[in-house]
Amino acid sequence: MDIIRIKNLNAGFPTKRGLVRAATSVDLTIREGECLGLIGESGCGKTVLGMTIMRLLQPNTIISGEIFYKGQNLLALKEEEMRKLRGKELGMILQNSTTSLNPVLSVGDQIAEGIILHEGLRKKEAREKATELLEKVQIKNAAVMSKRYPHEFSGGMRERAMIAIALACSPSFVIADEPTTGLDNRTMKGVISLLAEVAKSKSMLFITHDLAAASEICDTIAVMYAGEIVEWGDVDEVFSAPLHPYTSGLLNSLPERGFIAIPGSSPSLIDLPGGCRFKERCACSEERCARAHPLMKEISSSHKVRCHRYD
Ligand SMILES: Nc1ncnc2c1ncn2[C@@H]1O[C@H](COP(=O)(O)OP(=O)(O)OP(=O)(O)O)[C@@H](O)[C@H]1O
Ligand SMILES: [Mg+2]
Repeated sequence: MDIIRIKNLNAGFPTKRGLVRAATSVDLTIREGECLGLIGESGCGKTVLGMTIMRLLQPNTIISGEIFYKGQNLLALKEEEMRKLRGKELGMILQNSTTSLNPVLSVGDQIAEGIILHEGLRKKEAREKATELLEKVQIKNAAVMSKRYPHEFSGGMRERAMIAIALACSPSFVIADEPTTGLDNRTMKGVISLLAEVAKSKSMLFITHDLAAASEICDTIAVMYAGEIVEWGDVDEVFSAPLHPYTSGLLNSLPERGFIAIPGSSPSLIDLPGGCRFKERCACSEERCARAHPLMKEISSSHKVRCHRYD
């Protein structure tokens, strides 16, 4: 069963300089219980994709396509219906826990908020549940910490609190957007093992730059480049036998593989080039790469790629 099915999704931001095409023709599915890792360089559209699913982008964003959650198209729902799903069935751990938490509300009350709203519990019961959730995300002295404010939490604890908020109403699907950015190494490892635990029982979209964490947590991987998916498949296949030259480039830029950076930079999303979007930086580029935009090609039932080499 698919829990999320994204079909031909486009998201663009109108700006003075033109339309920023942050996501183009995205097709992805996430099965029940699966964790899909979304990787790609900064600015390629990962957060925009996550925010489009949650329908949290600014109102003037131009969005087309379909996002089915358990068969219903989220993009066709009224805002009121969407609000009922957000936080209850769809949880999101945002990219920046420091700015996402409310500084003037205790952490316990912030967790309790969603529980009161979606599950109709009374304040006292919701606060008790909040404490249980803080215990679950391994915050020591949860009962005491629950009454404390975000500034009294360390970065790692804030991230855990964000995870507790996202999990408060037992959502079926969770989006975690770079939950470990800005954390020191040891704290990061703790948060990753917590997420790995969460991923065991939930369907998840895990947005990350941390390829090691992705290989630990995810079942499948989608690689995004300049607003489009260029490779998508089983995690072991994508990491051990990447098909797209861009994916190979990302893997070769890892310290253990020699730190070889991909030359050049990604194209402007306002003025996307014709043909393959990666051609300028690609060592395998041929004449046809300038001529035609490659389509996503199914290499096997568990591996797809957008590259002319496989035509
Ligand atoms: N509100 C907006 N208006 C105009 N452009 C935007 C807006 N929000 C995002 N963008 C642009 O859309 C593109 C994709 O942004 P996004 O935040 O999704 O990148 P990302 O892949 O999440 O990067 P990172 O890894 O750094 O988090 C970027 O070029 C960004 O500048
Ligand atoms: Mg992002």
